[in-house]
Amino acid sequence: MVTIEKANIDWENIGFGYYKTDKRFVSNYKDGKWDEGILTSDENVVINESAGVLQYAQTCFEGMKAYTTVDGSVVVFRPDLNAQRLADSAKRLEMPVYPQEKFLEAIDEVVKANLKYVPPYGTGATLYLRPYIFGSSPVLGVKPAAEYQFRVFASPVGPYFKGGAKPITLKVSDFDRAAPKGTGHVKAGLNYAMSLHAIVTAHDEGYAENLYPDALTRTKVEETGGANFFFVTKDNKVVTPKSDTILPSITRRSLMYVAKEYLGLETEERDVYLSELGDFAECGLCGTAAVISPVGKIVDHGKEIVFSGSSQQMGEISKKLYDTLTGIQYGKIEAPEGWIRKIV
Ligand SMILES: Cc1ncc(COP(=O)(O)O)c(C=O)c1O
Repeated sequence: MVTIEKANIDWENIGFGYYKTDKRFVSNYKDGKWDEGILTSDENVVINESAGVLQYAQTCFEGMKAYTTVDGSVVVFRPDLNAQRLADSAKRLEMPVYPQEKFLEAIDEVVKANLKYVPPYGTGATLYLRPYIFGSSPVLGVKPAAEYQFRVFASPVGPYFKGGAKPITLKVSDFDRAAPKGTGHVKAGLNYAMSLHAIVTAHDEGYAENLYPDALTRTKVEETGGANFFFVTKDNKVVTPKSDTILPSITRRSLMYVAKEYLGLETEERDVYLSELGDFAECGLCGTAAVISPVGKIVDHGKEIVFSGSSQQMGEISKKLYDTLTGIQYGKIEAPEGWIRKIV
């Protein structure tokens, strides 16, 4: 148990936004290798006007959280999977991989240097961690940059969706998020740039988020702009869309394991068609930021699909999944081997 003097923040009421903390980690890649990296107080990045990231969006990132557990430790959840996914993203964008061990050390350092911003247990808030890599040297012709920067900053955050656990309404988007052989399966900044118009359009129309159908046939459920889907059948089977063009959510992979191994539920990863949505009892979004957010309704071009089990509040099975997953993250339920990295 460590006693940490906390920052003067209204933890219960913070939203999901950038909040400047004390230290961030920076490492530079030059002449074919990463330097040692340092913690810095400087939150600004100064790069060439023609840097690869500025011209051709050569950047990828990760999102993860540090939690204060019930016994006062500070932990992160499955950071090895974030390191692996960042490596996969980097390779797809012709960027150098940041080594996994160094990634984990950088996370440790940033959390330790910002302990006063790790929200206390029981507040519902967490410390969001944002590792990322970008092309920092100039390019003019379309090609990968020669130099890169890896950074990790931290920001205390509350719930991603306003209203927390209140069921949200989604629209089936007319825009595509990911091309069939594109970059939907990696966390490339460009995926999010092209989703901005779609999300603003959805918000303007009163929806919380978009459901993106598969770009090729527009008949199957892919994901939202920032979370994967899961559905619960009327006989309590947990179903999640299988697709090569969605981000392999660490939360979703963990939830499917929890559903099967902790709750004894049947699970299935398969094509999920828009036409069958009405058959499901519950729908939820899952992700580091969304945690589990109940979906009450999906509107498909005027056709309203209401999930009876999750239209008023988080569905019964969704709640069990939520309690078990967050129980593991907050140290109340024993975690599977290797899921929790204790920092202090
Ligand atoms: C497009 C997209 N899908 C899914 C997720 C959820 O992934 P994870 O559970 O690894 O945070 C995220 C957020 O990271 C995302 O941006």
